[in-house]
Amino acid sequence: MAEIIDGKALRNKILADLKSEIEKYEKKPFLAVIIVGNDPASKIYVANKKKTALELGFESVVIEMPENVPEIELLKKINELNADKNVNAILVQLPLPPHIDTEKVIESVLPQKDVDCFHPLNTGKIAQNARPFVYPCTPKGIITMLNEYKIPISGKNAVVIGRSNIVGRPLAAMLTNLDATVTICHSKTRNLKEITRNADILISAAGSLGLVSADMVKKGAVVIDVGMNRNENGKLAGDVDFEAVKEAASFITPVPGGVGPMTICTLMTNTYELFKLQNNL
Ligand code: GUN
Repeated sequence: MAEIIDGKALRNKILADLKSEIEKYEKKPFLAVIIVGNDPASKIYVANKKKTALELGFESVVIEMPENVPEIELLKKINELNADKNVNAILVQLPLPPHIDTEKVIESVLPQKDVDCFHPLNTGKIAQNARPFVYPCTPKGIITMLNEYKIPISGKNAVVIGRSNIVGRPLAAMLTNLDATVTICHSKTRNLKEITRNADILISAAGSLGLVSADMVKKGAVVIDVGMNRNENGKLAGDVDFEAVKEAASFITPVPGGVGPMTICTLMTNTYELFKLQNNL
């Protein structure tokens, strides 16, 4: 029976430490978030980000732009935030509407204020095992959990399901940098089960309800669930069949209460790190 990794408790601990840490500064870290359109999930995520920032005593602003905003207006706003000395961290919530070139938007954020680590300068740094200004929120949150639970990474077989720019790709690169032997699987992967059964650390970031069943998991594996799906009752659920898989795994993250809280927590620690870098603290 697996030990359940408590992302919420770890988040609370890290944020409490962060809150007392920033009390010593007169000036506070400033996170600016841009949201375009009315995607309901994005609206909830953004509201949570702002709430957490304000609870910590950070400065935060959410800039809402309409679904049909011209790309040039969005780029102008990002340039303003880039130039604003008070703003330490910029986050443009994804996905963006189809008329906007997401690549162009990501590249317009100053790498020093790129709190998501989406800019190619920063992702390129990870690919080279060099140092980005900050690491991407979800992958870093996962590594923080593994470290907290003293789960070794070096030399382990890590299998990542999903190759998104937000989670799968950077996470695979970061695990490689930490000396894991990494396999990336995705929707075209053949014999998924054969590969996942070889994983010491199995991370599912596919966004596919119930994708990971118990027969795909090696006994004693560590299972990390990044999925945020709605089940048949409309409840939040992951990619992993939690009840069945927890019998075989040694550690497992629940949904909700696992990776999700760690992502927001890392967004806050990243904002603080950028604040320190920009103020030579
Ligand atoms: N959309 C889904 N996850 C994320 C994230 O971590 N950052 C941003 N900017 N958009 C997202």
